[in-house]
Amino acid sequence: MRKIIVTSALPYANGPIHLGHMVEFIQTDIWKRFQQLIGNQCVYIWGSDAHGTPIMLRAEKEGITPEQLVSRIHQEHTRDFDDFHISYDNFYTTHSPENNELVCEIYRRLRDRGDIEIKTIIQAFDPIKNIFLPDRFVKGECPRCSTKDQYGDNCEHCGATYTPMELKNPRSVLSDATPIEKESEHYFFKLPNHEQFLREWTKEHIPPTVANKLDEWFTTGLQNWDISRDAPYFGFPIPDAPKGDQAKYFYVWLDAPIGYMASFKNLCSRRPDLHFDEYWSANSKTELHHFIGKDIMYFHALFWPATLHGAGYRTPTAIHTHGFLTVNGQKMSKSRGTFVKARTYLNHLDPEYLRYYFATKLTDSVEDIDLNFEDFRLRINSDLIGKYINIASRCAGFITKNFNGQLSAELVDAELFSSFVAQASSVALHYENRDYSRAMREIMLLADKANQYIADKAPWTLAKNPDTVAQVQAICTLGLNLFRVLTIYLKPVLPKLTEKVETFFNVDAFNWQDHAQPLLAHTINQFVPLMSRIEETQIAALIQSTKEDVI
Ligand code: MSP
Ligand code: ZN
Repeated sequence: MRKIIVTSALPYANGPIHLGHMVEFIQTDIWKRFQQLIGNQCVYIWGSDAHGTPIMLRAEKEGITPEQLVSRIHQEHTRDFDDFHISYDNFYTTHSPENNELVCEIYRRLRDRGDIEIKTIIQAFDPIKNIFLPDRFVKGECPRCSTKDQYGDNCEHCGATYTPMELKNPRSVLSDATPIEKESEHYFFKLPNHEQFLREWTKEHIPPTVANKLDEWFTTGLQNWDISRDAPYFGFPIPDAPKGDQAKYFYVWLDAPIGYMASFKNLCSRRPDLHFDEYWSANSKTELHHFIGKDIMYFHALFWPATLHGAGYRTPTAIHTHGFLTVNGQKMSKSRGTFVKARTYLNHLDPEYLRYYFATKLTDSVEDIDLNFEDFRLRINSDLIGKYINIASRCAGFITKNFNGQLSAELVDAELFSSFVAQASSVALHYENRDYSRAMREIMLLADKANQYIADKAPWTLAKNPDTVAQVQAICTLGLNLFRVLTIYLKPVLPKLTEKVETFFNVDAFNWQDHAQPLLAHTINQFVPLMSRIEETQIAALIQSTKEDVI
């Protein structure tokens, strides 16, 4: 039995969950459910990313404390995840005592081994709001091409990168004031100290598909990483820095990944079977898998392993990076009605449609994945309703009506059943490698095969003739057993539908091994419709609601 931690990236607690986020959370959840199904111990931990300037300012705008904002959004997020059947073990928050303690401990260990440097830097400062301005809070004209209204880090028009004060006519997004330059002491993590370690670690832990990105980073040279921010800031104070309005805080991106550890630590307090040191000590035999989007690779593939290594903890087993969601082939956009909030989707459609659709699209690559509404509707109607569920709906009625719910005692075509069982190791391997798309394709090929068998035997014709009606029980028993195998294969993707199927078969929750043994001489329950088709009107209504959403 493997012992595994899986994580999704911690969503910022200042906005709604949208379908782009759900790509990752569904991807993580399928993997976690698969690991449990095959008998591994797997805990799924994450939480709200609570700190940083945007959250502080948004709370201020709403006239509430950042804590209040974070706790409200945390609740909203939790509801979305529950309704999408995300089976996390702990959805905690980075603004927690466990995290504060771990962050300070890690900082001290890094400092004591000489990994921290203090340096004075000059930054844009808003003289009206009295606050240092992050790059994105300064706008102005591009110093290279003079395009107006560009952010302080790069130009959307010509791609130039620069510092905020290099903009022409810079102004603060917060007050419209012209920012001034101001000095301040900052704390830096000396990433170059870990270059040798990182070169080796990334070679072994980052797949070649994203390796070119890494080469780029090493070629440009690793830089010291600024891990401090000046007051006012919503975060944890740096313990050995000045206090009051001179206080320094840990930058949100230092404490966010440590939030994975803190979430696990918090879980340990109510799960006696889990021990923090067993999972996080440098010589841990357990596995740690992070699922992330391609935009945050730098943090997870460089800063995070270097931080852990420097502080004497275990490093991740793997970083699984996915691409971005596009909708109807384009970046999600509010005006086109394609910035779909998780909640808006849930108001119109079954979450398992989306879980399955994403599964058909997800591979182990960082390619973007597209949600095309028309393709989505057709895919669900064809695969899940037309192929998979169709097997059961064609067979179940006969067993109930003609045979009192009784499955026959033998398999009429053991070879056909075996061919379904034989696919298990391949499907399992695809799940393990996060190539869900291939797993779904193989499962649907089997569904075609099952439907072909039923069509060939035409039990509906045999049932009309008293001489042949007896054969119907054997044929439908086999049909339902094929359906049962496919349900077990689909269980990580369709957990709720699987529960309904378990009830229909009148059995305990399936585990993976159950696929190999047919269910025979057993009384099943009456069939209830498992899932309905997606109508065009439902899609239209979702798009309409999306356009009306306030983000
Ligand atoms: N708070 C950071 C993560 C800290 S982890 C220690 C963050 N939050 S986020 O809310 O912006 O994003 C959370 C995850 O969702 C990230 O992995 C991000 O890549 C992913 N996605 C956000 N938008 C996405 C799409 N449109 N498509 C796919 N994934 C996307 O980053
Ligand atoms: Zn420009």
